Amino acid sequence: MKIVSTITEVRAQVGEWKKAGNTVGFVPTMGYLHEGHMSLIDAAGENDKVVVSIFVNPMQFGPNEDLASYPRDLEHDAALCEAHGVDLIFHPTPEEMYGENFYSYVDMNVLTQELCGLSRPVHFRGVCTVVAKLFNIVTSDKAYFGQKDAQQLAVIKRMVKDLNMPLTVIGCPIVREEDGLAKSSRNTYLSAEERKAALVLSRSIFLGRQMVEEGEQDCKKIIAAMREEIEKEPLAKIDYVKIVNLDTVQQIDKISGDVLAAIAVYIGKTRLIDNFICEQQGV
Ligand code: PAF
Repeated sequence: MKIVSTITEVRAQVGEWKKAGNTVGFVPTMGYLHEGHMSLIDAAGENDKVVVSIFVNPMQFGPNEDLASYPRDLEHDAALCEAHGVDLIFHPTPEEMYGENFYSYVDMNVLTQELCGLSRPVHFRGVCTVVAKLFNIVTSDKAYFGQKDAQQLAVIKRMVKDLNMPLTVIGCPIVREEDGLAKSSRNTYLSAEERKAALVLSRSIFLGRQMVEEGEQDCKKIIAAMREEIEKEPLAKIDYVKIVNLDTVQQIDKISGDVLAAIAVYIGKTRLIDNFICEQQGV
């Protein structure tokens, strides 16, 4: 496995692989890898070669967010990647990615105006811009993203479709701890007490999913039950509990078509997200 930090090195290596007829799978990450990322890397193993990027992208953090404290551990990440058969890690500096003067952005409306887009106004512009750049640098056949960031996945799929980017985006299921908490690099911010309190997210998600599976179609009722579950936990503060159409990320009143139920909840100072997806309900 190689670790490189320049765009030139990535292009040279991927170019060589492609010349030899290899397919390339790509997993973009911000590092501090956990089993959720490993499931994406394992899925990318369906290609001949696997590239992982590790880059804490400043552009997708708002001024009061956790850019400075975002956890980083390249040595640990590299060991995990090696063990899972990764061929190349791209670990650029912000200067390598954005240079001195950077004036071009990839932005999106509609899909980014709900859920996390409301409380994180610059986030998706930063995500779209860096992912478009990474796609142009790595030029993989496929790219793999976790369904835990379901809005991000919908946004990236839409960007690829709208801008005719020549690759396939694959969404992979949420990976959870044994007790239900969705794996996240931000779970490391939680104290022991907060870690216990954080289980309220998966409890609320499982409750909502069960209601849908049992035939409840009224989104207001499902949301009310999910909120009530979260509100039982004194350390939890709701950012949002919403049900939207999976493709457009617009709120809906009745469960129908492909549906995403998503929540964002502060546990102490840490903002965590979770969701469930129901496909083709009531159609
Ligand atoms: O999901 C993430 O870790 C990031 O948003 C991504 C896709 C790597 C872009 O920085």
